[in-house]
Amino acid sequence: MAKLRNSPSFLILPFLFLAFQVTQSDKNTLHKHHHLLEEEADRIIALPGQPNVPFNQFSGYITVNQVAGRALFYWLTETPNHPLSKPLVIWLNGGPGCSSVAYGASEEVGPFRINLGATGLHLNKFSWNNVANILFLETPAGVGFSYSNRSSDLLDTGDRRTAEDSLRFVIRWMERFPRYKRRPVYIAGESYAGHYVPQLARQILKHNSNSGSNSINLKGIMAGNAVTDNYYDNLGTVTYWWSHAMISDKTYHQLINTCDFRRQKNSNECESLYSYAMDQEFGNIDQYNIYAPPCNNSDGSYSGSTRQTMRLPHRPRPANRRVSGYDPCTERYAEVYYNRRDVQKALHANTTRIPYRWTACSETLNRNWNDTDVSILPIYRKLIAAGLRIWVFSGDVDSVVPVTATRYALAQLKMKTKVPWYPWYVKKQVGGWTEVYEGLTFATVRGAGHEVPLFKPRAALQLLVSFLKGQPLPKA
Ligand SMILES: *[C@@H]1O[C@H](CO)[C@@H](O)[C@H](O)[C@H]1NC(C)=O
Ligand SMILES: *[C@@H]1O[C@H](CO)[C@@H](O)[C@H](O)[C@H]1NC(C)=O
Ligand SMILES: *[C@@H]1O[C@H](CO)[C@@H](O)[C@H](O)[C@H]1NC(C)=O
Ligand SMILES: *[C@@H]1O[C@H](CO)[C@@H](O)[C@H](O)[C@H]1NC(C)=O
Repeated sequence: MAKLRNSPSFLILPFLFLAFQVTQSDKNTLHKHHHLLEEEADRIIALPGQPNVPFNQFSGYITVNQVAGRALFYWLTETPNHPLSKPLVIWLNGGPGCSSVAYGASEEVGPFRINLGATGLHLNKFSWNNVANILFLETPAGVGFSYSNRSSDLLDTGDRRTAEDSLRFVIRWMERFPRYKRRPVYIAGESYAGHYVPQLARQILKHNSNSGSNSINLKGIMAGNAVTDNYYDNLGTVTYWWSHAMISDKTYHQLINTCDFRRQKNSNECESLYSYAMDQEFGNIDQYNIYAPPCNNSDGSYSGSTRQTMRLPHRPRPANRRVSGYDPCTERYAEVYYNRRDVQKALHANTTRIPYRWTACSETLNRNWNDTDVSILPIYRKLIAAGLRIWVFSGDVDSVVPVTATRYALAQLKMKTKVPWYPWYVKKQVGGWTEVYEGLTFATVRGAGHEVPLFKPRAALQLLVSFLKGQPLPKA
């Protein structure tokens, strides 16, 4: 790490001074300082309990719909040195309904981890802001600190509105941070963000086709353990359960023969097979990392934590049962920390007194999800044709959106192989396996669960480094 310093608060004053002292009719200067003012208002001086850091951070709201009063919350963590020589990576978490502040920022790719008991923060050595400026976005409205003044918005949001509002966010965010306008932009995310990431990319390309100088310099996308195609995801998931000996031959064949994997609402017969598999055959395992020690309450019951895939819209969920999580405590600490008044103040969050608490995931949004694409593959075809850099990765011990699901889905794209399957290395160990296709790179992360950067932070940082360079993963 470079020399440590706090984000100096005294910087704000000169900017204010300049902005109000401009008397000449130099509109450009005025314009520029106006942006600096807006940007400075979003600067994070320091978060409560934060160690000194050598990088700058900003956070705040961008209004995406004036009529309804919808505003999305973001948190930008810049690279330590010369941020404007590095790209911008927008990170999205899934759910639907889960927060990129709770997951991406606080337990995956962000610079900080929350201390036990939420007393403060400590550094994540493998933070992605070592190599790029990371913009965490809580989307759609209703997730985390992002809100809508029209409460009915929480009851009819889906893929469509999420993509439209997120596009509006990116456009307006660039207006607030014009110094980023020409920087290469990448979008990354995991799980149900397997929908958001390609959908937002498509929305940006559509915007770019008639936006002239306001176009977004989108270069590529990267999605991990990504929900991709209802049919192939469901087929690949039960196949993973069977091939990892989590369920019996009998249950596997019954699931295959009974369930219509294309449908979202399944027959009772199919639902009860899922229940049987999960309740009678799985046992107390962590579905997000089948080899991790399960979390348990003191009475040995399930923790009842809400993981970010609370309910995938294409997956039947047996009634009254939630899947358990890797470390429910992490989420609990996040929910303590981000509900602290001093933390919210430091983040410029919850400035309108949102009428409910900050939660890692919004069950209301999740339960009422209005529309979902049955398959993202047609979008991949478009993005490949548009020449975007596309990487899909998969932690191979996740049984929720498993590697088999992703492989079945990607196989439908029938891509030509450019670099045949090989093991890739990180610190002289096999990090996973990868194959480079014409138009898309696929990579597994060996031993990683659903949240790859949580379980394998060093490997995840290597993924980002290679992705940003546009080079295949290291062969040694
Ligand atoms: C939501 O309502 C509050 C209170 O009236 C207001 O201050 C805020 O600007 C509104 N938010 C948006 C995005 O319009
Ligand atoms: C779960 O409980 C068992 C028995 O009390 C204990 O041995 C195990 O370490 C616990 N697991 C975790 C992850 O705390
Ligand atoms: C916002 O602030 C209000 C009042 O200070 C608090 O009751 C509420 O829980 C907070 N909500 C969120 C989402 O932070
Ligand atoms: C809800 O979904 C339907 C399609 O299923 C779509 O036509 C409609 O626009 C969606 N509503 C909203 C508010 O996005």
